[in-house]
Amino acid sequence: MIGHTERKAAHDELIRPNRRGIDILHDPDINKGTAFTYEERERLGLEGFLPDHVTTIEEQSQRAMENFHKAADDLARYVFLTGLQDRNQTLFYRVVIDNIREIMPIIYTPVVGLACQNYAHIFRRPRGLYVTTRHRGRMREVLRNWPEKDVRVIVVTDGERILGLGDLGANGMGIPIGKLSLYTGCAGVPPEQTLPILLDVGTNNESLLKDPLYIGVRKKRITGADYDEMVDEFIQAVQEVFPKALLQFEDFANHTAFRLLAKYRDEICTFNDDIQGTAGVTLAGFYSAMRLTKAKLKDQTILFFGAGEAAAGIAQLVMSATQAEGLSRKAAAERCWFVDSKGLVESGRKDLAEHKKPFAHKHAPAKDLLSALKAIKPTILVGASGQPRTFTQEVVGEMSRLNARPVIFALSNPTSKAECTAQEAYTWSKGKAVFASGSPFPPAVYEGQTFVSGQSNNAYVFPGVGLGIAACGATAVTDEMFFESARVLADMATEKDLAQGCLFPPLTRIREASALIAAATAEVAYKRGLATEPRPKDMLAFVKSKQYQPVYKRYI
Ligand code: NAI
Repeated sequence: MIGHTERKAAHDELIRPNRRGIDILHDPDINKGTAFTYEERERLGLEGFLPDHVTTIEEQSQRAMENFHKAADDLARYVFLTGLQDRNQTLFYRVVIDNIREIMPIIYTPVVGLACQNYAHIFRRPRGLYVTTRHRGRMREVLRNWPEKDVRVIVVTDGERILGLGDLGANGMGIPIGKLSLYTGCAGVPPEQTLPILLDVGTNNESLLKDPLYIGVRKKRITGADYDEMVDEFIQAVQEVFPKALLQFEDFANHTAFRLLAKYRDEICTFNDDIQGTAGVTLAGFYSAMRLTKAKLKDQTILFFGAGEAAAGIAQLVMSATQAEGLSRKAAAERCWFVDSKGLVESGRKDLAEHKKPFAHKHAPAKDLLSALKAIKPTILVGASGQPRTFTQEVVGEMSRLNARPVIFALSNPTSKAECTAQEAYTWSKGKAVFASGSPFPPAVYEGQTFVSGQSNNAYVFPGVGLGIAACGATAVTDEMFFESARVLADMATEKDLAQGCLFPPLTRIREASALIAAATAEVAYKRGLATEPRPKDMLAFVKSKQYQPVYKRYI
């Protein structure tokens, strides 16, 4: 929720729109619909276009939510919200912010996944930029077509691994759009500073290639050096046209994501949310769990089930955070163990991808999760495998035998992919589990006690980090920004939240959380000499002053 003072400050701003008449109603950035006052209607040439009654934004919001609830299903709700965003941006963000718990699952996971699967069929109005193979050699010009010049946050995907849904090609555009709506809704990054981009390199999805309504390049993906050259040109063009922009990679396939991050993270201001954002929010969950188990992160043994982007990202951040707590690099790496589809990741294995090697410690082979669990004796078990129901009663039972309070995170999305449900975790651990999941679960009951477990939702972290970076003009994104953000987020969970099983503050406090995370991020940027804006006296007040408020301006 936004405060009265912020609303008033934004409302006091007087704006002279650069157009008149009906064009105003067709520009979502300035349109207020029925909220234009009689005076504004007269001055701006709007008389006659609007019904008589002047509505408040509260009334408009109520009408919007009525329609939202009346929609036939979640996909229809997504389409409705997209339409609202295209008509009246201020109202869209007002509705999103005031109803964040209800709306986040529609504009972001899981419903945005369904929207992407159907994107070509629900497509109405373009948003963002489609940079395609056709634009090679002239990407700068394409980027220059974008009407806003001071872009601060770009989210780009090549659509190859959209959520857990695989290659959706250009249909993946729903992801950068949804993600940037959260940068604005959750943290207040001004919408005009955000830019969603779909890098269209083709698709290998046969059903899309055969779909007569498919919106993207109707060819197989370009690969190898061809692909790398295209990404390189894109990145250079972004740096030239939008030199202050943070470039967030999103939903690239595993084989590309790690490579691109390693290649560009020291060169440009970039991060990968699937790797680093997930890590930030999960680490916050660990810190909160430590408040319950009264232990220190550096003393934990963490077993990851699944060794992809999410798991490796978390392990890398745990390493950075525990090194900052005083562990050597080797000791920090040894806190983390992986089980992948072939069993325990250990140094004797010859089939390991590059990102698994730092965590391949000397150990006898173990062929499955249960035997690895018995051998490694972890204090924390994290599922990021996409393999449903793999945290069986035996697995949860073994974790509970090893630990008085077993910390169990079942992160795989969507709900149908979770390694176990909240109810299973509490029942099989006899109410002892400290549990979090990737998708929300309804409250669980064990022997009369109700547990409302928390969702390890990336939206707690990336919007705040983005706001912090945009506010201070940081030139790079570091692990320290993410582990400091994790600490801030963990501290926001109250004793009451923890007592009922929730490791995160409620989503309704997300604007507050994002402001604190932005301040922590900017603080790191100043400390490490990465900020380009003058250092403010009060960091929190500074980032708050940069937050967009969905409040109508007054027009003269
Ligand atoms: P990924 O495809 O990079 O990794 C999946 C990993 O699981 C791979 O290493 C694969 O080898 C491994 N795996 C597959 N079958 C297995 C088996 N039978 N036994 C053990 N390991 C197996 O995917 P990513 O991005 O790491 O995501 C993994 C899951 O985590 C997804 O379901 C995703 O939705 C979820 N996730 C949750 C987040 C959150 O809660 N905030 C954020 C990001 C991802």
